[in-house]
Amino acid sequence: MAGPAQIGQLVILNDLSFVAGRSFEGRLYLWALLAILGLGIAAVTILTARLTLRGWISSLRDVLNDPQPMTERPQNDDPQIAQFVGEIRQLLRDLDISRRTATAIRTDETAQTHWSPEMLRRVLDSELPGSEILVVSNREPYIHVRQENGDITVQRPASGLVTAFEGVMRACGGTWIAHGSGSADRDTVDDTDAIAVPPGAPSYRLRRVWLDDEEMNGYYYGLANEGLWPLCHITFSRPIFRQSDWEKYVAVNRKFADIVVAEAKQSDPVILVQDYHFALLPRMIRERLPEATIVTFWHIPWPNPEVFGVCPWREALVDGLLGSSIIGFHTQLHCNNFIDTADRFIECHIEREDAVISVGNHSTQVRPYPISIAWPPPPLETLPPVAKCRVNVFERWKLAPNTILAVGVERLDFTKGIPERLRAVENFLEMYPEWVGRFVLLQAAAPSRNVLPLYQEVEKEVLMLVERINNRCGREGYQPVILSVRHHEPEEVYELYRAADLCIVSSLHDGMNLVAKEFVSARDDEQGVLILSTFAGASRELMEALIVNPFDARATAETINQALRMSPSQQTERMHLMRALVRDNNVFYWAGRMLIDAARIRRRRRIESVIAVVSRRATGN
Ligand code: F6P
Repeated sequence: MAGPAQIGQLVILNDLSFVAGRSFEGRLYLWALLAILGLGIAAVTILTARLTLRGWISSLRDVLNDPQPMTERPQNDDPQIAQFVGEIRQLLRDLDISRRTATAIRTDETAQTHWSPEMLRRVLDSELPGSEILVVSNREPYIHVRQENGDITVQRPASGLVTAFEGVMRACGGTWIAHGSGSADRDTVDDTDAIAVPPGAPSYRLRRVWLDDEEMNGYYYGLANEGLWPLCHITFSRPIFRQSDWEKYVAVNRKFADIVVAEAKQSDPVILVQDYHFALLPRMIRERLPEATIVTFWHIPWPNPEVFGVCPWREALVDGLLGSSIIGFHTQLHCNNFIDTADRFIECHIEREDAVISVGNHSTQVRPYPISIAWPPPPLETLPPVAKCRVNVFERWKLAPNTILAVGVERLDFTKGIPERLRAVENFLEMYPEWVGRFVLLQAAAPSRNVLPLYQEVEKEVLMLVERINNRCGREGYQPVILSVRHHEPEEVYELYRAADLCIVSSLHDGMNLVAKEFVSARDDEQGVLILSTFAGASRELMEALIVNPFDARATAETINQALRMSPSQQTERMHLMRALVRDNNVFYWAGRMLIDAARIRRRRRIESVIAVVSRRATGN
């Protein structure tokens, strides 16, 4: 059956037949006319298509050449264009998913070849070529201290954040902006308040920020460490919230924002914001550097909304963090808690499947990135074999040759569960008296935040417990607990790890806990047992450790006994698996994954800007 077009065609042919008559010449004339007409239509179509295409290409070229991609998202009234843009956006979403999978595979594959500083550098070159990298943290990686004799020494602080990031910065270069807290820090910077570090082999710039006593008391000791620290670590210590501390916290965040903006040489740097000292910083930077890629890492746990909700400034803190492009936590649980908190207290749109929170035009991805340590661990470069380390430590601490040595290493902090560990040791010596005379716990405790009452209390409690245990179970030439309260350099700590039969990590709550990973990394002899709190993020990864509830002193005591009776082959089996995990998921892998995700966001934003501009041009808006 003929359709309307065919009917029309017949009519035309009939008309033309009439014009041309029935002769051969007439039919020839008719066909020639039709051919010319066809060619003309084809030419006009091609010309139109070319002009349209040229318009589109020139739009695309303009945008691609524009160093300042546009952020606005114009709405399209034209249904065809809107549909087209919708399709491309869907395509981008699909691309996102496939790229996420590809990234996971790529990182898994490369993990087989072990992430290294070189690999991280390569990732940076390929994924973020020419990008400026800025890191912001409160704690600085190198502290210059003036000694009593006037000499200046360099200290490396006891900080998980610093341990992790230092290796990354050595590999990536860039500028690390941090509080200059050392007594000789001002004497060692140049006229930009910066110093090239590490000392002796500089590879990045440390830009120091000066804070006065009032700022430190309000922002660091007050809001950060008496407010947010107990709030986020569920250790049942009441957080303290003072309005004056909050005001200093806001002011110091602003001060750092000013310095970040002043330091940035590009309009779209990659800014890596570290920790709970700077919850407001991402939004403050975003307002002034809208094109920046801001990756914030929260190094401590994030509690559920009920717990976080007691904070008087909960909305401002969450909103501040949502200025980030990505927010990273150590575990999936902390990500879930953060999303739930945003959902409860902030006007936002949440895509739970993609873990994306949007406020207005800006979206933030929430991702788990379990932090780790450098592999191989740098302190091992200078340390002798395990047997020699053991001899050194035994000599230094005057331990009997048959001693079974347990170690604990941390800052003297109430979240680390040192009193709980000591109670467990006391229980252990009571429950298994056969170990009295042989078992020694050597506790290295770095003084920390000791102007705060909670820290003074925990120190008092620790001293009281050590004295009680040593009085009860010690004797001439034997002390079951040795406490060393001072700063310990990484080499000394690693020597302890290598000398020990057992390492006890009994945090009451901890984001990750790098001591657990350090102990494992130190044991290239594949011996030694790790006892690990179930409330440390590390327990999600180091499953071959003996996992304990540190609040349960008797069960922990039983676990110490179990650890001491573990056969060497069983120790090897567990240590081997844990070492493989720390080696593969090392800190370069941690940083690499974040940088790859940051690069993906940058590319995506660029493509979206192109679509926005093209669609606007196409609709003439
Ligand atoms: O765990 C969070 C953290 O910032 C870690 O980097 C580090 O272990 C600790 O707190 C350091 O505390 P501070 O810098 O206050 O001494």
